[in-house]
Parts: sequence; structure tokens; C-alpha cells
Amino acid sequence: MTTLQWNDEEEKVLVHPQPSPETFRRVKVDDKRIINCRADVNQLMPIKYQWAWKKYLNSCANHWMPNEVSMQRDIEQWRGNALNPDERHMLKRNFGFFATAESLAANNILLGTYRLITNPECRQYLLRQAFEEAVHVHAYQYIIESLGLDEGEIFNMYMEVPCVHDKDAFCLEYIDTLTNPKFNTGTFEADQQLLKSLIAFAMIMEGLFFYVGFVQVLSLGRQNKMPGCSEQVQYILRDESLHLNFGIDVINQIKIENARLWTPEFQAEVVGMMKIAASLECRYAEETMPRGMLGLNCGMFTEFVHFVANRRLEQIGLPAAFSNARNPFPWMGEVIDLKKEKNFFETRVIEYQTGGKLSWD
Ligand SMILES: [Fe+2]
Ligand SMILES: [Fe+2]
Repeated sequence: MTTLQWNDEEEKVLVHPQPSPETFRRVKVDDKRIINCRADVNQLMPIKYQWAWKKYLNSCANHWMPNEVSMQRDIEQWRGNALNPDERHMLKRNFGFFATAESLAANNILLGTYRLITNPECRQYLLRQAFEEAVHVHAYQYIIESLGLDEGEIFNMYMEVPCVHDKDAFCLEYIDTLTNPKFNTGTFEADQQLLKSLIAFAMIMEGLFFYVGFVQVLSLGRQNKMPGCSEQVQYILRDESLHLNFGIDVINQIKIENARLWTPEFQAEVVGMMKIAASLECRYAEETMPRGMLGLNCGMFTEFVHFVANRRLEQIGLPAAFSNARNPFPWMGEVIDLKKEKNFFETRVIEYQTGGKLSWD
């Protein structure tokens, strides 16, 4: 595989492998491996991981663009007195967190994960996922511009506001591992580092850190406030639900193919990471919504964060970290399960009203 590496003069150079019979023959299903694969990564077929290809097709079927959503009522409500100061504070904090978190997600995929996942059907999905992260950044740009918010205040929030900064700082430690061009897999330690970073990105950043914000913005929407923002967040949540499920499949496939990485010490470390992440997300809930609003309070969010954290651990075969955590927002299951049929913009209102199966991703 041709790779980008650093030479002795600290310059980035393309390194071409010596041709070998293994690299230049027709690929068979059994040659394919999710990491450290030595077969040609340009041969999509035969497809080994059908789950990756199906998720690519599902993602394409969910296509949407932010500027197709009307922001007219949101602009009227934001300029008028439809929202109280607490609701405005909560919205701005979430725009601040999401606007840059989506960029971090895109960087992680394109500058890190794509290079290190050595399977073409997974890479096909990752290309689609990267585009969706661009759509999500676009959504927040569109919201910020439509509402006339101070763009510097929103986009620099991840440097200035501790509860936002600390979540990103937690993830950046792992994103930096994957996006470091000198990082390569192939040793026990490096493969464990990769797996840990993928868990931090998919299960914590996309799987936990987005969810308090999703509940808060969608709760406003359920009271007919800021419907354009709420609608876009619904689409983002649906996309993120697929991203999360792809991440779960990748992590579990790496575990199957590299069982030696999954040591008791490693498992304990992942549970410890999830506990720290949950405390950061609880603090974010408190700071974004210090007085409670919309029938929500901090106690509900603590239970919700613990419920989601347990679910994420369970999805990769680990024990729960918190006891007796239930989901105080069962309606989130309906929101996630939105279906998009052929004529998206004619059918969506009915779909929103009827919801779908009450499954929790
Ligand atoms: Fe995203
Ligand atoms: Fe994502």
C-alpha cells in the first residue's frame, strides 16, 4: 500500500511498497482484513463486510442538505420574544459545541481512520461519512448565519468555554493519535492504541458527547420552538446514529480478527474512559441548562448520560459502568428511527408525526 510518511528531513513523502505477488493478485474475500491488510485496498469486490456496504447505501438514501430546511420561523422566534434567556443560552452553547465538533469528526475520519482501516468497503462508507460531517458543519454555518449570531463567539467556544473545551480536549488526545502521519498499526501496542482511539471517537464522541445537546435542542422543537434548527438536528441525529453503528461494527470486527488486543486491562481502561466521559457530559448538561427548562432537569440528564454510557459499553461487549440507569427520554428512540422515502420533503411531516419503531441505537 502506498503511504504518506515522514523522511529523515521531516518532510512528508509518498512511500511506494516493493511489488510483491501478494499485492498484485486478484483479491479474494479471505484476503480481506479490517486492519493491517496486505491485499490490494483498491479492489472493492468481492465484498467481505456486507454491513459496511449496507450502511453506505443507507447513508446515501438519507441524503439531505441544510439549506433545504426553512429557517423563517426560527428567525422570527430568535428576533422576537419566543425564547427566554435560558433557552437562548442553551442553544448557543450547543451550536458552539457542535459547530467545531463536526470539524474534529471530519478530521478524524479523513486524516486518520481512512488511512488505518485497510478495507475498501469500510473506506467507501468512511468517504460518505466524511461528506456527512461536512453537511453537519454546513448546517451549523447555515443556522449561525440565518440567526445572525456572533460567529467568532460560536466557533471559538471550544477554546473559551470550559464545559465545551473539556469534552473536545478529551477526544483530541485520541484524534491526535489517529491523525499523526507517523502513527502506523502493526504492533500489539499500536493496534491497541488504534482500537482505543476508535472507541473514543465512535462510542464517546459520536455516541455520548452529542446526546445531551440532541435532547436539549429537540426538546425545544417538541414545543414548536426553533423548528428549523430542530429539524436539522433530527437529520444530524439520524446520520450520527448510522455513524455510531458503523463504529460499533468496526470495533467488534477488529476484536474478532485481533482477539489478543482485548485484554482484561484494556477492557478496564475503556470502562474507565467511559466513566470520565460521562462525568464531562453531565457537567456539560449542568452548564448548558443550569436552572432546568422545558420539563427537563439536571437529574434527568445524569440518568440519561449514565444510560447511554452503559448502552455504549454493552454494544462493544463490556459491562455497565452505572447501576439502575434508565432512559428518561424514550421519545428519542422514535426520533432516531425517522424514515426517508423517495419523496423526502413531501413525506417527512407524516413520518415525523407517526415516528417508527421504539428502538434505541
Ligand atoms: Fe456529524
Ligand atoms: Fe458523525
